[in-house]
Amino acid sequence: MSKAGWILALSLMTGVAAADDARISFPLDYKSTFTNYLNLDRVQNEDQIIHLFANDIAIEAAQAGKELPTGSVLVGEIYAARKDENGKVQKSSLGLRIRDKLAAVAVMQKGEGWGTAFPEGLRNGDWDFAIFSPDGKRLEKDLNACRQCHAPLADTQHLFSLEHMAR
Ligand code: HEC
Repeated sequence: MSKAGWILALSLMTGVAAADDARISFPLDYKSTFTNYLNLDRVQNEDQIIHLFANDIAIEAAQAGKELPTGSVLVGEIYAARKDENGKVQKSSLGLRIRDKLAAVAVMQKGEGWGTAFPEGLRNGDWDFAIFSPDGKRLEKDLNACRQCHAPLADTQHLFSLEHMAR
């Protein structure tokens, strides 16, 4: 078998690489059509701020206490926090980080059967992940890192901020 053939066979066997890392496209209109439901200093990244948005499908289900359905899209705008000349993150008089440049746009989207290719530990129900530059270009990041960190949150549909969406 050719080298490419072997790589293909291996990826099909592990299942993981068989997932389509390009199936989520940049949600072009999120700023005008999604709800900005929460902004916060990122809890696991000390020099970032995140602004969270959800489309109507997601918001309506969350408010009704239902499982977020296929077609739900969530966006996290990741901002760098402003730093002083020594590279230390500045805090406002409120004790909060101050927003600097938009660094990336993280997306979660739910699709029919999208989770079936993933083994336990990487599976997030039928959610999958993507990350883009601020101008909408797909960034080459290891999406398994996203999947791994969100996967344990089965009780909250693999979301950290579900309760904030459901207000
Ligand atoms: C080490 C853990 C970790 C990793 C890795 C991670 N996230 Fe998250 N994610 C979080 C946390 C914590 C939040 C809550 C907001 C915050 O503090 O950033 C979150 C929130 C989100 C949200 C808003 C919905 C929710 O769950 O509240 C999206 C969308 C998101 N992440 C996408 C991604 C994408 C895309 C990647 C990979 C490029 C990724 N995440 C990697 C921890 C992680």
